[in-house]
Parts: sequence; C-alpha cells; structure tokens
Amino acid sequence: MKHLISTAIAGLVGLSPLYAQKVPAYLDESKPVEQRIDDALNRMTLDEKIAVIHAQSKFSSPGVKRLGFPDLWTDDGPHGVRPDVLWDEWEQAGQTNDSCVAFPALTCLAATWNPEMARLYGESLGEEALYRNKSVMLGPGVNIYRTPLGGRNFEYLGEDPWLASRMVVPYVQGLQSKGVAACVKHYALNNDEEYRHQVNVKVSDRALHEIYLPAFRAAVQEGGAWAIMGAYNLYQNQHNCHNSILLNKILKQDWGFDGVVISDWGGCHDTDEAVRNGLDLEFGTWTDGLTMGRTNAYDGYFLAAAYKQAISEGRYTTKELDEKVRRVLRLFYRTTMRKDKPYGFLCSESHYDAALKIAQEGIVLLKNDVVKKDKAPLLPLDLQKMKRILVVGENAIKMMTVGGGSSSLKAQHEILPLDGIGNSQMVKWWNGQIGFARGYVGDTIQSYNGVTVGRSLYETRSQAELTAEAVEKARQADVVVFIGGLNKSDFQDCEGHDRKTYDLPYAQNQVVEAILKVNPRLVFVNVSGNGATLPWLDKVPAVVQAWYLGSEAGKAIASVLVGDVNPSGKLPFTWYASLDQCGAHALNTYPGTWRPDHKVIDEDYKEGIFVGYRWIDKMKKEQGNAKCKPLFPFGYGLSYTTFKVGKPSASNAQLSGEERISIKVPVTNTGSRSGSETVQLYISELKPKVERPVKELKAFSKVFLQPGEMQEVEFTIDRSALSYYDDQAGCWTAEPGTFEALVGTSSANIAGSCRLTLKE
Ligand code: BGC
Repeated sequence: MKHLISTAIAGLVGLSPLYAQKVPAYLDESKPVEQRIDDALNRMTLDEKIAVIHAQSKFSSPGVKRLGFPDLWTDDGPHGVRPDVLWDEWEQAGQTNDSCVAFPALTCLAATWNPEMARLYGESLGEEALYRNKSVMLGPGVNIYRTPLGGRNFEYLGEDPWLASRMVVPYVQGLQSKGVAACVKHYALNNDEEYRHQVNVKVSDRALHEIYLPAFRAAVQEGGAWAIMGAYNLYQNQHNCHNSILLNKILKQDWGFDGVVISDWGGCHDTDEAVRNGLDLEFGTWTDGLTMGRTNAYDGYFLAAAYKQAISEGRYTTKELDEKVRRVLRLFYRTTMRKDKPYGFLCSESHYDAALKIAQEGIVLLKNDVVKKDKAPLLPLDLQKMKRILVVGENAIKMMTVGGGSSSLKAQHEILPLDGIGNSQMVKWWNGQIGFARGYVGDTIQSYNGVTVGRSLYETRSQAELTAEAVEKARQADVVVFIGGLNKSDFQDCEGHDRKTYDLPYAQNQVVEAILKVNPRLVFVNVSGNGATLPWLDKVPAVVQAWYLGSEAGKAIASVLVGDVNPSGKLPFTWYASLDQCGAHALNTYPGTWRPDHKVIDEDYKEGIFVGYRWIDKMKKEQGNAKCKPLFPFGYGLSYTTFKVGKPSASNAQLSGEERISIKVPVTNTGSRSGSETVQLYISELKPKVERPVKELKAFSKVFLQPGEMQEVEFTIDRSALSYYDDQAGCWTAEPGTFEALVGTSSANIAGSCRLTLKE
C-alpha cells in the first residue's frame, strides 16, 4: 500500500531523478529515436531479432514482449479496414466489432483531382485503423494503369505519375498523422494481375523512372511513408520482394527510405536474396498450417529458422539482421510505441461524411447531351417532369464493398444505388413499387472470405424474360437509369486475374439497346474501376462514371443524378474506344511470352514511356486524329455548369538554374450554377533531342466557382517540370530549349498556351 501511494505521488509530481535514471534509454521518450533503437537492439537476443522480422500470424508480427514492445498488427487495406481473419486462415474471425466505413476505391479518389480529399481519406482511414489497433495499413496502391484489363486498377490512382504522386502524398501524410503507417504498394511494376507471381517485367530505365516509380518516390520522399510493400512480380529476373536494384539501390540508397520493406503476402521466395536484397519484414509466406510437425509453421519462413541457422553457421554476420531490426524498431517507435497517438473511432459520422464527399467529388459526368424532345440535357434529372424513374441493372442492387480480393470489406452499411435513388418517392410508380428491373444476371455470389451480405441476387428468369421486363417498364417510364458496369468477381475488377475482354460483361449491351428502342431517355451509370467499350454510346444521351464508391455509394450517385451535387470528377485514365488504342496492346506486349520452362513469363513494356494519353498523343501525331480518338480522354469530365479557361501568362518567359516561374490563368464559371473545374497544366518540349511525350501533366488545380465568378489559377513550376530521365547518366535532366505550357480542362482540350525558354 505504502509503495502504491509513493508511486502515485511520484506520478503526480513527475519522476524523481533517481527513477528517471532507471528508465532504460529505449523507453526514454526524451532520447532521440535512433539512440533508443541502438539501446533496444543491444538488448535483444538473436531469437528476438529473428522473431521481429517475420510474421507470427496472417497479419501480425511479434513485438519484443520481454522489453515491452507490443505485437505489430497490419491490415488491408486501401479502402477501409479489413475485417479480422483467423490467426492462420483467410476466413473471418467472426468478430462483432470489425465492421467499418468503406471509403471509395482509389480510382475514385484519383478522379477527385483534389489532394485535400486524399488527406481527408488518409486521416479518416487512420482513425478507423487506430480503433481497430492496426498499426500498418496495407495501402495505398500506386501501380500505374497500363492496361484497362488490369484486375486491380480500381485499387490504384490512374495512369499518370504526376496525378498519382500528388494524390498519394497527402493520403500517406493524413494516415500517418494518426500514428498509423502507410505501406505503399506494390513496389514496383505490378501493373497487371494475370500470372502476377511469374511475370518478369522488362522495361526501359526511362519508363521505370518517368512512369512507374514517381508515385512511389513521392510517397517516400514527400509523404515520408514508413513502410512499402514489395510486389509479387519480377524485375530483371529477381522477385521484387527481394530485388536488389529496386530495394537496395533505388529505394534505400537513392531515395533514402528509412522505413520497412514488407513482402507482399507470399512474395518472398529465397532466404539468401531476402537477407541481402533489402527485405525487412516477411509476411504471408505459405505455411504448412501446423500440420507437418513443426511447433510453429512460421519458423519455416525464409527469414526465420533458415536465416538463424545461416547466422549460427557463420554464413552471415548479424550486419544485415541488425539493419532489418533497426528499421522494424523504427516502425515500432513510429506506431505501436508512440505515446501521443490520437484516439481512434470507428464508423463515425465524420468518416461517413468523408466517404460521401470523396464519392461525390470523384463521380465523373462523361456525357450529357440535350434530349431533343426536352430541349435540355438529360441530367440533372428534372424531378418535376420525370416522375417515373426506372432503375435497371444488377449493379443497382449489388454490394461492391465485398469481393475484389484483399481490399474486400465488411462495411457497416453500403447504400446500394437503387436504395439511394429510391429514397426519392418518385421511383415508386410501378404498381406502387420502386421502378426497378434486373435487366441481366451477372454474378450472384455476394460473399468474400465469409463476409456475406446484401439482398439475394438469386434469379430464375431467362435473359429473354429479363429483357422483356426491362423493355416493358422502360416503355412506361419517363427516364431509365441503367446501373451497370463491372463488378468485383474474378476476371473483372478483382485481384488475381485480369479481365478477359474490354467489353462490358453479361447481357448489358443487349439490354441497353433493347431499352433504347422504346425509351431514348437513358442514363448509363457505369460502376467500375476501368474503362470498357460502350457500343451504344452515340445513342445514349447521358453517361456517368461511378466507380466503387463504398458505404455511401447510392447516396452519392443519387445526389449527382438529381443535381444536389454538381459533378466535378475527371478521368484519371484514358478511356480507350478499343484495346488497340492502348500502347501495351497495340504493340502486343500483354500478357507476355512464356519461357520454355513455363516458369516465367516475360512482359516487355515495349511502349516505354508512352502510357495512356502519352501514347494517344504520339499516335495522333504520327497517324492523325481519326484513328486514335479515345472515347474519353485522360483528365476529362463534364459539369452541370460551363467554364471558360482563358489565356495563360508566365511571370517570366525564361528560366534558368533553380528559378521558378509562375503561370497564371483565368477561369470563369460561365454557366448558371456553382461548380468546380480542374485546370490542368501540361508541359511540352518543342524540339527535344531525345524522344519525349507530346505533353505531360505537371500541375493541376481544382477551383470552385459561383456562376459568373472568375478566379486566377496560379501554377508554379521549376526545371523539374521540364525534365526527363536521362538513362545514360542515370539521373533527371532538362535540356535548354523552348517549352510550351499548355493549359486546359483535359488532355484533349487545351484552352491556351505560353512559351518558356530554359537557359543553362
Ligand atoms: C495482396 C496485397 C495485400 C495482401 C494481404 C496480397 O495478396 O497483393 O495487396 O495487402 O495480400 O492481404
């Protein structure tokens, strides 16, 4: 008792100098972190060191209990905090406190073109993770959208390295401001899913540095990411989870990354490479499920017993081990050991608000033509005139937060599109029911690793019957809202495989065509993370790109359709009219060529730096306009108002050394309602000595304007915006010469330009 009282008093008055002396350096918060790491490292046994560099369960690795370091819990992922799984199984643990807010997929975030939304996303996700005691979030993913067949494009930030960089930095900062580490993935060149464990990517140094690495680099150098996840695939014949060039040379040496390299789950294949080539923390390696007589299957990891044995036999000193442990300890101090962490909360109103806001800002209005009869664009729906709204399509009633692979969630709620739209009484007209027709049957499975949700999608009617129902109801409707697109099942927007074709799946196209014959007032709402062919596009007056929008999906879609929200999203990728407009496919590089032993498939990125709009621009220049007009260009998106972007002017026509110049451009809302426009600045070198893209995005700014309001948008650029990667010298460089700053509202709509000269 006496002891308790004196301890309490010591607590009240602060620690006595005697007591303070007894606090070991590694626990002493007044000491610099590196000193605390040294101290901890000195106290750890070999077994403890080996233990902290590999997993102990599907998603956790041990701390050092003897010294008071708690276990480290990681979790997917980019779009919300994944529900807990069993210790060594992918099945749900069956917890009742692990439902979450599902945030929109990262393609939607990228489509906001608003870094503030990325910050909000990171912060909100961080708070959810804190509540769930997860210290590392396995995301965000920043692999470049190289082919529209890519099964995981929905989890990434689009085709452009600059856009992805600007969006990933605040996401990482927001998340980490909560004391939760971002684990940026999948480093690197994991641009498609098919054969992801066997693909050996061949890519030029220029394309590597100009296209595929910048977002990772920004996440590390500007965002200060505390962890990065190696990718499954190979580069230069070495798996990326222990790839000497990518990890030791580029990430750690050149970029100065001081965080932890975590293997993708099952991405580690070799002890020697893992030891030497920069992997710090091994996760997800296949274990024998404790069935083969080991006391702990995790001892079978490449960085576990085999590594310890090699050290004991003198094949390695502890040099590499200490370096790995040092990084892991640094991560502990940044996360689990941080005392001033904010409180976490789950499923809060603020998180739902954030999810809704991001969803609304990311939705892209792709088409909104005037309907002849109405003499007005179809959207926003005029609810005074359109009393009978018919919703058609499986995606109106399908939960999209479940499925798709590791980003699958157990959302506390997901407002389905039909429910979002149905909240308006207007749709209750068909025999007093909501005007809905299924239209087609796609994927009726609604579960992932034991999370089962949603209304039943069981359907016994034939396609002919479903089409007939849709047509019959459409005939009597004022307007048809078709909610289609892809879904998260295998071979669509889903991890593990790519799409087999670029077309929309199931009978969607056929049903759209049938409806158009009886009712031309059709809005197609495409739910996906990828583009697709839209063969009926000329006949459909309005098209909306709605992504996977998370918990508030239905609400967000409805708010745009009825005009409560004025859409302002812009495409983060080129929406090709056909696959052959995409460089990777035009050059027949996908999915690659199997080697004779059928163990490795070489995928040669022959299009080099010409990815997305860079390829389209090149084709336009070489072959003329007609052949290479995408359905919708990169950076494109309409609004319910109109904007005028004026002529840009530069503060200085010349630039030298480290000088910066500012480029100003007036933007006016010329329409009758308030809205946001994203002004984009592309740089073009007029006579480059090396081949360069016709233009490249180097700045953008989203402005909100009242009707009639004008604002001057200001961009600041320096020579880095004019640079390319010199693969001979192995560094970025800018050639003296003449450049053009092109300013517009998409990669295909340039409103004006100004010239700049770069001096030595
Ligand atoms: C995915 C990662 C994910 C990990 C853990 C892997 O299959 O590629 O993105 O974080 O599983 O679920």
